[in-house]
Amino acid sequence: MLAQRPPMGWNSWNTFGWQISEDLIVHTADQMKESGLLDAGYEYLVIDDCWALKQRNESGRLVPDPIKFPNGMKAVSDYVHSKGLKFGMYSCAGTMTCGGYPSSLEHEFIDAKTFAGWGVDFLKYDYCYKPQNIPGHILYKRMGMALKNSGRDILFSACNWGSDECDKWIRSSGAHMYRSTGDIQDNWQSIKNIALSRMDKECYSAPYCYDDMDMLVVGMYGKGNVALGGCSTEEYKTHFSLWCMMDSPLMIGCDIRNMNEDVRTILMNKELIALNQDPEGRASYRLTQWNNPEVTILIKPMSDGSFGIGFFNFSDSDAEGSLQFWDMGLETSSGYSLSLRDLWEHEEAGVYKENYTCRLKAHACKVFRAKLV
Ligand code: GAL
Repeated sequence: MLAQRPPMGWNSWNTFGWQISEDLIVHTADQMKESGLLDAGYEYLVIDDCWALKQRNESGRLVPDPIKFPNGMKAVSDYVHSKGLKFGMYSCAGTMTCGGYPSSLEHEFIDAKTFAGWGVDFLKYDYCYKPQNIPGHILYKRMGMALKNSGRDILFSACNWGSDECDKWIRSSGAHMYRSTGDIQDNWQSIKNIALSRMDKECYSAPYCYDDMDMLVVGMYGKGNVALGGCSTEEYKTHFSLWCMMDSPLMIGCDIRNMNEDVRTILMNKELIALNQDPEGRASYRLTQWNNPEVTILIKPMSDGSFGIGFFNFSDSDAEGSLQFWDMGLETSSGYSLSLRDLWEHEEAGVYKENYTCRLKAHACKVFRAKLV
């Protein structure tokens, strides 16, 4: 069964936009394998918008652009699979994709068959140019039905940006993950807005259908298609920690052929990924500090009885993070303390009774795995 855990992979859009090609995909596949990203869990390699010719062929099928993909999609898919990766593609529920290419409206079943024939394992399904006369949920239900009956297991990644109150119905369309916000940009304000907009909505994300807070911008440093400003390494750490703690799919968006050491360290932080990939898939709940509402504490219940605990400073100045254990249900009279392990420093941070307090730089975070002792 697909999407038992939040899907992980790489997507071409954030950095490359329309500038995609077989060459890029082949080298990215090589790099996913050689860099250790695949071993860390990143298994889907997804080609986003702008891969097709503007016209379908005479049998009504989508055709890959022969300049970008001279050997067709089956060849690309075979290469991706030969590296032990899974292959993802993109289409749209409206009359055209957002980039102006042919979409799957009224072609859902034939397109699902085409994708299955190319060995596609993942379909991102966008929402641009949606016709007025058909409710959006029907369009996602149609494609969900078409994919399930395509003869291949294809993970369905819905992308209607959280519109039409999709939290309420998208799971029943068959979607395995669904975009709940507008497009991310490579800057702090965008990361902050997306994260805050998805707080207190943890009930909507669970195994087999996860809340997708959009692709990661970690490592873009202001270069590429959505690179509007860039972030510091510290901000990328906070971004990655939030996406892990909130059970978002982890889809890398930077150019992994040129990752620096900081970026590798962030994307391959196995202790943080373990929070995200916990089998029970319980997304974090929020505690707000009464004395500083811009410091958010997230608590993620893990299947082994431990907790992920994250302190996030959304403010523009240094701040204190302080957790009273009583606020997460742990009373002093229980006799328990919390033993904290720092998941960025990869070391034990001590045993605490009743509360824990730390200092956080602007836009920074601390994330712990906490065990009752
Ligand atoms: C947007 C979508 C982006 C990207 C883009 C392609 O609607 O949110 O993630 O897929 O379309 O044109």
